[in-house]
Amino acid sequence: MSPASCEHLMNPSAKPLIDSYGRVHNNLRISVTDRCNIRCVYCMPENPVFLPRNQLLSFEEIERFVRIVVPLGIDKIRLTGGEPLVRRELPVLIEKLAAIPGIKDIGLTTNGILLAPLAKALWNAGLRRINVSLDTMDPDRFQQLARRPGFEQVIEGILAAKAAGFDPVKINAVAMKGCTEEDIVPLAKFAREHGLEVRFIEYMPLDGGLWEREKVLFAADILDRLTLEIGPLVPSPDQDPRAPAIDYDFVDGGGRIGMIASVSRPFCMSCNRVRLTSDGKLRNCLFSLEETDIRGLLRGGAGDEEIVRAIRESVASKWEGHEINTARFIQPERLMHSIGG
Ligand code: 5AD
Ligand code: SF4
Repeated sequence: MSPASCEHLMNPSAKPLIDSYGRVHNNLRISVTDRCNIRCVYCMPENPVFLPRNQLLSFEEIERFVRIVVPLGIDKIRLTGGEPLVRRELPVLIEKLAAIPGIKDIGLTTNGILLAPLAKALWNAGLRRINVSLDTMDPDRFQQLARRPGFEQVIEGILAAKAAGFDPVKINAVAMKGCTEEDIVPLAKFAREHGLEVRFIEYMPLDGGLWEREKVLFAADILDRLTLEIGPLVPSPDQDPRAPAIDYDFVDGGGRIGMIASVSRPFCMSCNRVRLTSDGKLRNCLFSLEETDIRGLLRGGAGDEEIVRAIRESVASKWEGHEINTARFIQPERLMHSIGG
């Protein structure tokens, strides 16, 4: 055993973030705003109440938090929203985070509307991974789902991200029964044509009441349809067993498809994520009903050790997994747009 692996015996602050089920957490998702320039039906109501700006963590507060969690083993960050690109100067935050020693990977999940003019600046700031949400290749259905226009800008944004150097650019498509079945094949064809990876995400109950189990379009049905209409798929050989997506490659070599089967095949037992909301609450699960008030500590003059203690308590109290498939399930009050996915 190398001496470094004994360090936590002498220095408890170097112990990784392990919960009571043995899951090690190295992945932090940071929501930088709960605001969005569109209104996807599965994510927020038509007229959401947004947080007042003074409740959002400043870039300096976010940076301090990240510097505190890196020694606890966090090395992967994803910025989310709402729509993260509506937060002014986002590349400045990315630059600050990319400069923190120990951060290996920074990603962004965006709706793509503001992406085209920003893609190069994001790349130059140190961003390397980008996921763009796009559920349909039909502009009318886009407008129905997003309650706003914007399809063309999203396509421009995706192509601009590719041109800026992001590889792969991933497409996130929420799959809803009775709604997006006809979009599966066109999305997969678009992805094959442009060398993108599309990931279908089963619709989850985080929208404040529209969700019903009957409205989930399951990964197995999506796979069947793709196989039938495009061609056979096989599980990807270089699969990361801890990643939420199960990847498949088209046998003809024409691209990769991911399935995020959050409802039909929960991946909670390999979860390595914690989430910081834009108002500075730490959530140990997408569906958790409790939060830890990090902003209160940051603004109340707490020292780093006190914040580390709060983070460890949150991780230690993480439950085994979401209970969407049981009668016990309770939807959290916080909706998707203020968690960040
Ligand atoms: N179920 C599944 N995915 C969702 N997203 C937003 N709301 C839901 C939901 N209710 C997706 C978005 C985005 C990511 C952050 O989460 O499309 O890609
Ligand atoms: Fe905005 Fe993303 Fe929510 Fe759509 S899913 S309303 S793009 S935050």
